Amino acid sequence: MKRILSGIQPTADSLHLGNYLGAVQQWVALQDGNDAFYCIVDLHALTIETEPQAMRKRTLAAAAQLIALGLDPKRCTLFVQSQVPQHNQLGWVMECITGFGEASRMTQFKDKSQKSGSDRTVVGLFTYPMLQAADILLYQANQVPVGEDQRQHIELTRDLAQRFNAKYGDVFTVPDAHIIKGAAKINDLQDPNAKMSKSAASNAGVIDILDSAEINAKKIKSAVTDTGKEIKFDEKNKPGISNLLSIHSALSGKKISEIESEFEGKGYGDFKGAVAEVVTSYFEPVRKRAQELLSDESALQEILDEGGAKARIVAGETLNRVYDALGLVPRITNQR
Ligand code: TYM
Repeated sequence: MKRILSGIQPTADSLHLGNYLGAVQQWVALQDGNDAFYCIVDLHALTIETEPQAMRKRTLAAAAQLIALGLDPKRCTLFVQSQVPQHNQLGWVMECITGFGEASRMTQFKDKSQKSGSDRTVVGLFTYPMLQAADILLYQANQVPVGEDQRQHIELTRDLAQRFNAKYGDVFTVPDAHIIKGAAKINDLQDPNAKMSKSAASNAGVIDILDSAEINAKKIKSAVTDTGKEIKFDEKNKPGISNLLSIHSALSGKKISEIESEFEGKGYGDFKGAVAEVVTSYFEPVRKRAQELLSDESALQEILDEGGAKARIVAGETLNRVYDALGLVPRITNQR
């Protein structure tokens, strides 16, 4: 069985459509026939200042949504990063084998730090990709299902695994990114050249999974489209329509060409109405299920506790091998 690992930050009250189509839809598919570990990366979320109350709420809301979207804690291991201390421990080792220049070239770090300026950029944002590499390598993951924006982080993880293995012996599995064509980059409905993101300046182009059908239908109907009137997939000249076609196709399971012919001779209004219908009917039951799950926080916490216990076993084994390979002196008793 292949080992799968992926993660999501609890940095918003709701997951958005990009998170689902770029990542979580794949997570659900990969939990069968594989040994899958999915992690709510709360430590990564500390790189953005958050209120403690919001952090707790968002972490549980992420768990509820992931389950409502189809993750089954009996078929995969769902856990919270901060409950598995080996992530920080291996994170440090990763920092010690990463070059300063190499880390400085990470585009997500460059973009975010340029926006905030160096005084307001925390060091954790700089070391973020090394903690992410630790998340993946601790579980000896073969595949990492993510959206396109994570490709560079997975490349760095591969480099670090190979570098460690070459120097200290074969400890890590070198992971592959699992990036699905078509849904790997869902764009903002108001700015179809930028990815849909929880940190967007305005929420008008972001479809939140926990929002009501009315709000989401309205956002889709007001999506920025392109001049012309044909429903044709053409990312360069028709980014708005192409984005909506990708969304429709990923949720309805229809091929893009099928949707194009269905809307031949029809206008943008009809097409947007259909996309709104596909999206809202897909997520309405998910929203209800997530709310039900959230009404029993202790049940959610138990699921996460169990996942954490399973994760600590696998992570502990890898960390022991890493420390041993590095020549750190082991404890001879685990009693104290
Ligand atoms: P995060 O929390 O920003 O996003 C979670 C997942 O959603 C994908 N995604 C998108 N896919 C398509 N279109 C979009 N507009 C879109 N926006 C987000 C992301 O690619 C991601 O797969 N650094 C990671 C979290 C992380 C992680 C890991 C991932 C920490 N450790 C280990 C994999 C393995 C992040 O910030 O994801």
